[in-house]
Amino acid sequence: MPDDMISHSPTSAPAPLAGVRPKTPLAGSIRVPGDKSISHRALMLGALAVGRTEITGLLEGEDVLCTASALRAMGAGIERPGEGRWRVDGVGLGGLGEAPDMLDLGNSGTAARVLLGILATHPITSFVTGDASLRSRPMGRVTGPLSRFGARFTTREGDRLPLAVSGAASPVPIEHTLPVPSAQVKSAVLLAGLNTPGETTVIEPQATRDHTERMLGHFGATLRVEPMERGGRRITIVGQPELKAAPVVVPADISSAAFVIVAALIVPGSEVTVEGVGLNPSRTGLLASLREMGADIAYLDERIEGGEPVADLRVRAGTLHGADIPPERAPSMIDEYPILAVAASCARGRTVMRGLAELRVKESDRLTGIATGLAACGVKVSVEGDDLIVDGDGRAPAGGALIETRLDHRIAMPFLVMALATKSPVRIDDARPIATSFPGFVPLMNRLGAGFPEIG
Ligand code: S3P
Repeated sequence: MPDDMISHSPTSAPAPLAGVRPKTPLAGSIRVPGDKSISHRALMLGALAVGRTEITGLLEGEDVLCTASALRAMGAGIERPGEGRWRVDGVGLGGLGEAPDMLDLGNSGTAARVLLGILATHPITSFVTGDASLRSRPMGRVTGPLSRFGARFTTREGDRLPLAVSGAASPVPIEHTLPVPSAQVKSAVLLAGLNTPGETTVIEPQATRDHTERMLGHFGATLRVEPMERGGRRITIVGQPELKAAPVVVPADISSAAFVIVAALIVPGSEVTVEGVGLNPSRTGLLASLREMGADIAYLDERIEGGEPVADLRVRAGTLHGADIPPERAPSMIDEYPILAVAASCARGRTVMRGLAELRVKESDRLTGIATGLAACGVKVSVEGDDLIVDGDGRAPAGGALIETRLDHRIAMPFLVMALATKSPVRIDDARPIATSFPGFVPLMNRLGAGFPEIG
């Protein structure tokens, strides 16, 4: 990996950034970086397969680079022959070796939790840490089920990182029912089951993103996915398959496209096209919600790329109205609530976003972060139980606030987008977290006419 691809030094100084309303509408056609979830999984399965996996469109954000560094430290051959093009020489299932140092997974919950699944059934000892945000996040949701395979964990109080894990030498398969909808936990258990003899089953009462299942199939593993009542699924993996290297094409990340889409909706007169956006049905809750709010979003040239449905999304600004977003939709748009709340604050009427308990344990407590930030911008907002309620009057919010980003990219970007519509500028205290998932966000938005100052 080239040096310029290694994650930013956590000691570098915060980079405050302000956004102002542009003088002209946003216009143009752009492509956002590759899907973060798919990028992590492509590297991990590539590292476990036999042979060489070629990945195109990999997200070169810090979260994914952390996964690449960790896998490299454990023996996988990982190279970057060109922009977005990565080559992984796998060690074969069970072949990862002990890393000489701590595995530092930066800000990435996905890297930490899903890798722990892999480590749980490799007979090696690993030490795992992350940044202040990741070190505050609950890991018990994975260390609990992974211990049942026979892995041993030593964690800080409250099941937090740093932790040590000694993987099981003779793992036993398990059946695990997810207590909260989480694709990370599902993936951790499935990937632990991958190197375990017999069949491992995960039951998810509510469907979550299924990139792990799709990619396991793509690399030759055998899975059974049985639909259950009320949208849930029972997923069984047959352990110790021959995992064969396979090329991966990563679609553009709908979670990053979300910021561009909402920006185009709330800056009057805008028309923007976002190309090649991944539209896996387990990820499209934001688009359904925005359309219910009256958004003009057209799906152009719908096609399949790399086994995932994609389309170009043409977005036109217009008047939005409030909507009632049901809790069952949360897993399909879990990362999009902050930006949906920004759209809601520019809409006419009440938007209720229900069942958001999981937002409290993301990179920051997003439920509090959104509510506090919107209120500081003059928006009528409240949290009732696990629901977020935003009352808009169809006019631009006041703005004029300084937002604390708390190491959370999905707080930083929504408030910069909001600044494009507010009467007074909105500032964020630190733009550095944006690089975890959307490197190039500022210049790309500027190409559409956003006018953000470039980060130094
Ligand atoms: C992810 C799953 C989600 C999501 C995260 C990425 C994944 O987390 O918030 O950004 O790639 O599996 P949870 O599993 O905690 O819901």
